Amino acid sequence: MPQWDSGNKRIWSAASSSGEEAFSIAMVLAEHSIKQSWEIVGTDISTRILKAAQNAQYPMLRSKDIPQEYLKKYCLKGIDSEEGTFIIEPNLKSKVVFQYANLKKNLIDLGDFDVIFLRNVMIYFDMETKRHVVSMLLRQLKTGDYLMIGHSESLHGVTSEVRSVVPSIYQKT
Ligand SMILES: C[S@@+](CC[C@H](N)C(=O)[O-])C[C@H]1O[C@@H](n2cnc3c(N)ncnc32)[C@H](O)[C@@H]1O
Repeated sequence: MPQWDSGNKRIWSAASSSGEEAFSIAMVLAEHSIKQSWEIVGTDISTRILKAAQNAQYPMLRSKDIPQEYLKKYCLKGIDSEEGTFIIEPNLKSKVVFQYANLKKNLIDLGDFDVIFLRNVMIYFDMETKRHVVSMLLRQLKTGDYLMIGHSESLHGVTSEVRSVVPSIYQKT
């Protein structure tokens, strides 16, 4: 976990798809009893997918990768007509907001973040678009803050404004 000073912490799941990434981050922060207040913003270009994220209801099959203790604390099993699904526990859900954003556009109005997750979306972009998107996102991070990308992705040739911490984790310089 990053060593955080005081103040509200903001984390951005850019290209959040149906919300699994954003809620996983929320579970980890809740589990580590982060002292600062925090919020997570999930954005995606697909309004259909964003609706699913806002519902925060998933087929039970998707729970297989969630650690048991997280399942017990942060997920509620559906009953009756909702059987075979689970929902994210309302208090945790309230810490995560979803909104539309096209990463190729100017995104300054989303505000500044302490950590940005840009995972498994650069595959859709050519090199010029990757450079533009990463440069835009980095404007919303302070020096020393973190950018996370997917395990199979690279920022090689995309930006010189970061240093690699470990594979897929970069720090703004
Ligand atoms: C494979 S999912 C990645 C989900 C999540 N980040 C993860 O790693 O599990 C890719 C997502 O990128 C979104 N996407 C594609 N182009 C985008 C764009 N220009 N702006 C925002 N989101 C985009 C898609 O709608 C899709 O939900």
